Amino acid sequence: MNIGKKVTALIMVSLLWGSSAVAEVPFGDKESVSYADDLWGFMVDHKLAGNDSIMTRPYTGAPPHGMILELIEQKVTLMGVNGELVVKRNYGGDGLTIDDVINNPDKYLQAVTVMFQREEGYDSDNQNWFYAKYAPDGSLMTNPKGVPLAGRVAKGMPTGCIACHKAAGGDYIFNHDRYNKM
Ligand code: HEC
Repeated sequence: MNIGKKVTALIMVSLLWGSSAVAEVPFGDKESVSYADDLWGFMVDHKLAGNDSIMTRPYTGAPPHGMILELIEQKVTLMGVNGELVVKRNYGGDGLTIDDVINNPDKYLQAVTVMFQREEGYDSDNQNWFYAKYAPDGSLMTNPKGVPLAGRVAKGMPTGCIACHKAAGGDYIFNHDRYNKM
């Protein structure tokens, strides 16, 4: 094999290896980020997020999601997939009360955490939930390594959305068991 051929072969191998490695990344990859962007757009259009969104009566929560929370659930069709969408708004601040949040939600909103149950096979090990954590402006928040929190977060790791939500029973939802089909 001459040098030229060797180099070409090396490039081919690294390209193949590179693409399969990318395909295995469970979250924060390009596909997940673009899916999360579409999901945010959908939520804004349906007044589930962003300015002018529907307001519910907030309730007192607990870590890790913030001291005052709002929860809205709806079955929606997103890019041809009909699934459960669970939107949680997380409010925080020193000595924050429910009245503070009702009167000035934008001031105290810290994050919007979302779960959307995607198509069969998206993540069969974990009930096919797609997770995303947004800042109030719709940009994705990141983990300490700078990886965007979107997708199967953080599949295979001991902490993170999936590891913790696994403890919520078969449907991965803490607040109820309505989606538990088992
Ligand atoms: C350390 C555990 C833990 C981690 C990590 C965690 N959650 Fe949760 N999550 C909870 C608990 C407990 C509740 C129920 C109480 C509440 O609403 O705060 C909850 C509730 C939710 C809900 C409302 C549906 C439900 O299960 O009741 C959504 C949506 C959600 N989390 C999204 C996320 C996303 C997205 C991530 C990752 C970025 C994440 N969570 C990480 C513990 C966790």
